[in-house]
Amino acid sequence: MTQPCRPTTRRPGVLRRSTVVATVPLAVAALIAAAGPSVARTTGASGVGDPYFPLLGNGGYHVRHYGLTLRYDPDSRHLDGTAVLTARATQDLTRFHLDLQGLDVTGLTVDAAPSAHTRDGQELVVTPRHPLSKGQKFRVTVSYQGTPEQITDPDGSPEGWVPTDDGAFVVGEPQGAMTWFPANNHPLDKASYDITVTVPEGHTAVSNGVLVGQDTTAGRSTFHWRQAEPMASYLATATVGKFEVEQYTTPDGIRVYNAVDPREAAATAPVLTQLPAVLEWGSGLFGPYPFRAAGAIVDRAPEVGYALETQTRPVYQRALRLTSLVHESAHQWFGDSVSVTTWKDIWLNEGFATYATWLYTEQHGGDSARRTFDALYAEPASDDLWTIPPGNPGSGAHIFADSVYSRGAMTLHALRERVGDPVFFRVLRAWATERRAGHGTTAQFIRLAERESGRNLGTLFRTWLYTEGKPAPLPHS
Ligand code: ARG
Ligand code: ZN
Repeated sequence: MTQPCRPTTRRPGVLRRSTVVATVPLAVAALIAAAGPSVARTTGASGVGDPYFPLLGNGGYHVRHYGLTLRYDPDSRHLDGTAVLTARATQDLTRFHLDLQGLDVTGLTVDAAPSAHTRDGQELVVTPRHPLSKGQKFRVTVSYQGTPEQITDPDGSPEGWVPTDDGAFVVGEPQGAMTWFPANNHPLDKASYDITVTVPEGHTAVSNGVLVGQDTTAGRSTFHWRQAEPMASYLATATVGKFEVEQYTTPDGIRVYNAVDPREAAATAPVLTQLPAVLEWGSGLFGPYPFRAAGAIVDRAPEVGYALETQTRPVYQRALRLTSLVHESAHQWFGDSVSVTTWKDIWLNEGFATYATWLYTEQHGGDSARRTFDALYAEPASDDLWTIPPGNPGSGAHIFADSVYSRGAMTLHALRERVGDPVFFRVLRAWATERRAGHGTTAQFIRLAERESGRNLGTLFRTWLYTEGKPAPLPHS
């Protein structure tokens, strides 16, 4: 799981090891076989088989690299884009899907050959002029333009390309990436990115990874960002605004780029200066910080009620608190570097990031994690914490339920008390380092915890993650 830029070679292993995901291609294959006609077997599936978001992602290929060249005009809200996807077919393909919501496609080629394409909701269906064979590398170039639509998630929150008074706040968990570029839009297919954005002079476009070029000519500024380590599409951003910019390199060689809305700057400064210390703290606990770049985008987007752990450079919808900095930083290890294979496993992101804030508080003179646990445990039986099992929140509407965060973190605390601190911290570190730049499933996490502790932990995880109702209290420590 350590090859940084080759999802195609890494992925078969993921599929074999993942009980959740391994069943999906079989189910899809069975459906296609039932459908009969031989052409169906060469059509890539319209989704990767996510139980909560069946149309997210696509079957039949892996994307290795996205090259996005965008131009955005905040006044007219017009976006022009060219996306170049470098991919490899995992089956013979006479037809395959991309995910794209809204926008007009003005041109599409596969290996430079203009190719037929149709739209069907969020599916962009491509018929390459020359069929692709299994294992073949290919390049899709999509030209598109229009006013990006934002998406309202099943939980009611906005995501995607969200306009602000001075640009756009760009977040994509779990679906919104497809509002601004055509993608294999599911964390199962991670890729490297080059994202180049041109905006009117005076505006800054901030994306993931390292700023490799910047130029201003004829009233327009262009920013070229490179995200070299594999990234899930939901973690991409291209946030545009009028920002104060700060750049430095940490003693560990991490390239920091912070962009802060001037109206949020005073409240942000005392917290953001903590970033290197927080990353160092995380590295001590979870293993080396997984990326070469870091930073923050602090915008003003009042209608978006949350921050997002966009890779290397989280976006905050307003001046951030220290717990938020710790939470989004912890996601860089848990969620960004080690990614879910299905949205059902979202507690592996949110439970871990939440528990990281409990650990940070405990280790910086605040409440112990046990005290935080106890305060939550006191919630009455009717609370969502007990009615929504974090390992199976039930639908896309509940993937960001409080239970996924808090009871997810309580699950880790229950594990910690059961196996003891040395084993527990070894498990966290092994999870982040062994699966760095890859994926992990809940079943794999349980197996790791059992391996490191030498105990059978099935009941603990079944109770805390998958069973409705309040688990029995932890023994007094
Ligand atoms: N992952 C974000 C966090 O760190 C939350 C994203 C919420 N997204 C949404 N569409 N409701 O907490
Ligand atoms: Zn989170």
